[in-house]
Amino acid sequence: MQEKLALHGGPKSLDGPLPPWPCFDEPSVNAVEDVLRSGKVNYWTGHKGMDFEQRFAQWQGSKFAISTSNGTSALHTALAALGIGPGDEVIVPSYTFIASSFSILQAGAIPRFADVNRDDHCLSAASAEKLINERTKAIMVVHLYGNVADMDPLIALAKKHNLYLIEDNAEAFGGEYKGKKTGTVGHTITCGTACACWKWNRNSRTSTTCSAGITA
Ligand SMILES: Cc1ncc(COP(=O)(O)O)c(C=O)c1O
Repeated sequence: MQEKLALHGGPKSLDGPLPPWPCFDEPSVNAVEDVLRSGKVNYWTGHKGMDFEQRFAQWQGSKFAISTSNGTSALHTALAALGIGPGDEVIVPSYTFIASSFSILQAGAIPRFADVNRDDHCLSAASAEKLINERTKAIMVVHLYGNVADMDPLIALAKKHNLYLIEDNAEAFGGEYKGKKTGTVGHTITCGTACACWKWNRNSRTSTTCSAGITA
């Protein structure tokens, strides 16, 4: 950020019209061109997809990362990986993008809506606890609008009830909680897996052609 805001006579961060979206710089265009010229445009013939997953996992500090077509499918992949399906319930904040709860329905499970905190707009552990019953399998926390959720009470709750803690990180890519990247904080005591989902689009900070996701 500029020392002095443009409003107070500082330099403008943007001169001229807003750039269109999506907008790609030359290195990105060249990288795509290189793949097209190689003819290895499939995940299993080329290496770019797997390289990216490896580098992503390394960057954010998780063991694995699997790229998906969008954020919703990243959440769906996470739920499927945890074996969540018909008969199960997943607690999700009532205030989030529709995809958070939609992915639970898509998995055949039931979303249970908990309140969010007034101050950070993220899932309230106290509200979530009221919804826990014998069908509850997971809590899905959403780091909304770049706000990093207060994870300690949610981790404690998940541990207490033996639940998975899934982080929907679609809106907080690169965020940190107590020195750990968002998406690597959630864990389960049942299998010790960290599970998180990212997506890239115009609401988040990184952009691809339209939308993409990753489960780690
Ligand atoms: C919090 C949250 N979760 C999940 C998604 C789903 O991502 P996608 O639109 O790429 O499926 C979004 C999309 O905006 C989101 O904001």
